[in-house]
Amino acid sequence: MSRLSELLRQVEREDQQLAADLRREFDLLRKRRAFGLNFERHVPETVELPGRPVRRGDKVRFLPDRGADGKDLDRGLWTVARVRREGKVRVAELVRRVSQDAEPETVERDCEDLVVVAEFRDPIYPGLKSTGKVERGGEKPFHTVIKSENYHALQALLYTHEGKIDAIYIDPPYNTGAKDWKYNNDYVDGEDAYRHSKWLAMMERRLKLAKRLLNSDNSVLIVTIDEKEHLRLGLLLEQVFPEARIQIISALINPAAVARVGGFGRSDEYIFFVLLGKSAPCKLRLDREWVSGKGRTHTGKIRWDLLRRSGTNTERAHSPGCFYPIYIDPNTKVVKKVGEPLPPGESEAPAESGAVAILPIRQDQSEGNWQWSPKTFRDRHKQGRVKIGGNKKRGFTVYILKPGEYKKIQSGEFKELGRAPDGSIQVEENDPNVVSAIPGSQWKIASHDATQYGSRLLSKILSARKFPFPKSLYAVEDALRFFVADKPDAVILDFFSGSGTTCHAVMRLNKQDGGRRQCISVTNNEVSADEQKALREKGLRPDDPDWEALGICDYITQPRIKAAITGKTPEGEPIKGDYKFTGEFPMADGFEENVEFFTLTYEAPRPVAHHRSFHAIAPLLWLRAGAQGRRIDQAVEGFNVAGTYGVLFDLDTAEGFLSALQSAPSVRMAFIVTDDDRGFAAVCRDLPPEVEAVRLYASYLTNFTINTGRD
Ligand SMILES: C[S@@+](CC[C@H](N)C(=O)[O-])C[C@H]1O[C@@H](n2cnc3c(N)ncnc32)[C@H](O)[C@@H]1O
Repeated sequence: MSRLSELLRQVEREDQQLAADLRREFDLLRKRRAFGLNFERHVPETVELPGRPVRRGDKVRFLPDRGADGKDLDRGLWTVARVRREGKVRVAELVRRVSQDAEPETVERDCEDLVVVAEFRDPIYPGLKSTGKVERGGEKPFHTVIKSENYHALQALLYTHEGKIDAIYIDPPYNTGAKDWKYNNDYVDGEDAYRHSKWLAMMERRLKLAKRLLNSDNSVLIVTIDEKEHLRLGLLLEQVFPEARIQIISALINPAAVARVGGFGRSDEYIFFVLLGKSAPCKLRLDREWVSGKGRTHTGKIRWDLLRRSGTNTERAHSPGCFYPIYIDPNTKVVKKVGEPLPPGESEAPAESGAVAILPIRQDQSEGNWQWSPKTFRDRHKQGRVKIGGNKKRGFTVYILKPGEYKKIQSGEFKELGRAPDGSIQVEENDPNVVSAIPGSQWKIASHDATQYGSRLLSKILSARKFPFPKSLYAVEDALRFFVADKPDAVILDFFSGSGTTCHAVMRLNKQDGGRRQCISVTNNEVSADEQKALREKGLRPDDPDWEALGICDYITQPRIKAAITGKTPEGEPIKGDYKFTGEFPMADGFEENVEFFTLTYEAPRPVAHHRSFHAIAPLLWLRAGAQGRRIDQAVEGFNVAGTYGVLFDLDTAEGFLSALQSAPSVRMAFIVTDDDRGFAAVCRDLPPEVEAVRLYASYLTNFTINTGRD
């Protein structure tokens, strides 16, 4: 390193700029980890913002000519120097500099042949535009679907849900090399030398935001992946979540196995569970296929264990206080009395008339010890946790219900029927085909078959529309159930939501237990590679309504979720078939749930008077307040109070606002629009204690500036 520093100093004498450039690269190299996952983080990521009008100062890229595949297109970025009108056409004057010393290049283009681009560090100003909703769930909170580049949606969600998400389920592109995802708007294929580092850079940026959204005290991140990236993903997760417990499950999703040339067929994939805080899988009632029937644990019967200790520390000398007689009536096998520990060296219990003494002595006459002290024994005997087996001829054995088994009775897993004549608890036997368990890390579950319960199930809902590799609905439901079964109000996020399986699974979970969980689904509106070709041949290109209509969000995600709720296909026919496994009912019944569809918008970068831009951020406030009930969509004079939140637009009307809140007990959040620190503090002081105050600056958009490269 010092040799390099010396060389840099020499270069500095000759060429300061070159030395500075070299030093920057050198510092970057030095910052790299010596161990762990190393990859090219600096590959810049750009995101196209289709639908965003071209304005002065924007960075833009050319759209391909209609009908062309765009292979030879100049993909560089240009800056808009000016926009002028020529009749009805808006023409942009563009400029760029290839290097610092080069002369600037200039060109002109119709604005409609350009798409605005945000680079990783460019701030953007998000809004949400509602594009429709379905309401069948009464007062329940709304599920939301956000059509957006997920990097931007995640940043917008930081405003609404930082630290509030209970579970994230994602199924990102697997980076198979078969055009399954784009980086900087180009498909990443198997020939791309940087394909792993591009994928890791893309994932790392999103996972860092996901981490800020998760509740650090108790939440889970679930990520599915296959063998192409699972090793790298595992390391990345460890780096982004060093404090979490991470487990990996192997799940059989394709029992028929996909052939792999020169290798074993691929039949499973992996599910990473990243557990934050006290998050842990719940014990659930599961079908027998989840848990082996071998062994003593999952037999459907409560397990009585021997009181005499086995395994380690089994000698009398290991626990002299636990070598004491238990006196029983030999005819009724009722425990009569519990004696005190025998003095060292003594092996005969004092006689008790009409009773037989049992000591922890094995058949070979060696002396052991009981697992419980005399006091513990007496207490637990009263609870019915002791039973005597055997007989006078063979000898008697003492059985007990250890704490784990006793808990199963207390929790209702086993139903108590009463007491036997000897006082021991009697319980009902359970169906041995259903077990109450936390399963192991290898899942071979018939309902997780992605072909049957992903693709085929989707084709029942959307008939002719095709989506590549949806997850089995029941697989997503099961993965989530372990973490949200005990959280009926959980907020669940999927930011690679594809066909919307996660939202569908959350609605099923709600139906099973009457929960009010809500799911936020984010997906882009990408048109599949095959369909793109056909559309280009028709002279269409991105941003054209006919092109966008075939994008994943518009063509698959939204119609699927709408159909699942209404029970009707997009053509208005009742969906044929029944849901299976946990919760069987006709798909045509639909769900009593609400959903609203949004598109993330990119607002003008200059501060806008609040009355003009409030509508763009109104859904963000409503989301932050729980996505429930009426939304305040327009700014008004004074204030407005809806079901769960209120907005004070004018501090002068604070008194009226505060009294309106007093008579609206369901309000949990108050947004206060003001640039005045003292005024804000004064209103906060008088708010009802259960209402959280959130400040909004009068220039609304500055509240929501995202993508500032802070992360
Ligand atoms: C593998 S699929 C998810 C499938 C989903 N689990 C299901 O069951 O249908 C990944 C999805 O993420 C979307 N996607 C990929 N990159 C994205 C990005 N940067 N922003 C938003 N969505 C993205 C793709 O359009 C694709 O539909």
